Amino acid sequence: MDADLADYVRRVSLREDDILRELRAETARFPALHTMLIMPEEAQLLSLLATAIGARSVLELGTFTGYTTLRLARTLPVGGRLVTCDISEKWTTIASRYWRRAGVEDRIDLRIGPALGTTADLLDAAGPDSFDFVFIDADKENSVEYYDRAVELVRPGGLVVLDNTLFFGRVVDPAAQDAATLGIRAVNSRVRADERVDISMLSIADGVTIARKRDHPAGRRPHTSHGQERSAPCRTPITPGH
Ligand SMILES: C[S@@+](CC[C@H](N)C(=O)[O-])C[C@H]1O[C@@H](n2cnc3c(N)ncnc32)[C@H](O)[C@@H]1O
Repeated sequence: MDADLADYVRRVSLREDDILRELRAETARFPALHTMLIMPEEAQLLSLLATAIGARSVLELGTFTGYTTLRLARTLPVGGRLVTCDISEKWTTIASRYWRRAGVEDRIDLRIGPALGTTADLLDAAGPDSFDFVFIDADKENSVEYYDRAVELVRPGGLVVLDNTLFFGRVVDPAAQDAATLGIRAVNSRVRADERVDISMLSIADGVTIARKRDHPAGRRPHTSHGQERSAPCRTPITPGH
C-alpha cells in the first residue's frame, strides 16, 4: 500500500485519544526504535478482537512502551486482568506513566524478566487454558516456544496473535539467515501445521497472524453413538412457521 493510501486508512479509521497519541509521540522520539512500536491500526484491531471474544484475561509478551497494553487494558471488563512482560525497565517505566494517566494501571500486572520465564511461571501458577487472549511481540528468536506456550495457556475459543510474521519482508529473502528471521519462519511453519488452531495470516502492518484455539483438535470432534458429528445445541428453539 502506498503512503497516501496508508495515510487515508489511518485518517478514516484510527481512533486515538490524547493519551495514546502522546504515548506514540514520546516513543517516536527514539528513532532507532521506531520499528519496535506497533502500528496503531494494528493495536486497534487487537482491541477489537479482544472485545469481540469478551476477553477477561489477557497476556502480552513484549510490553515496550505499553501502547498495545493500554489499548487492551481498556477493553477489559471490571475484574479483568492483563499480564504483560518485558526485560526492559527503561521502556516499561514510560509505559507505567501512561497507564497511570489512563487509569488502567490497577488491572495491569507488569512482570520484568524473560518471557520464557514468565510463561513458565504462568503455566505453573494458573495452568493451561487460563487466558482468553495472548499477544506475542517479544524477541523473535524464541517465537516457536512462545507460540507453543501461548496455545497451552489460552482457553479453547481464545485467540493467540503473533506480530511481525512478515518480518519486514525478510521471510522471503533467502539471504536473511539471522536468528530472528529464522525464528519467524519457523513459527509461521509451526502455526500452519498446528491442528490445535484455526488460523488467518493478515498482510497488514508487518504481518499479523491470528490463531484461534479449537475446542477439539481437527479429526477429534465428538461423535454421537451413530458416528455422526454432534452439532452444537441450538440456543433458540426453532418454531414451525418461523
Ligand atoms: C516489538 S517490542 C514490543 C512492542 C509492544 N508490544 C507495543 O505494542 O508497542 C519488543 C519488546 O520485547 C522486549 N523483549 C526482548 N526480548 C525479550 C524477552 N526475552 N522477554 C521479554 N521481552 C523481551 C523488548 O525489550 C521490547 O520492549
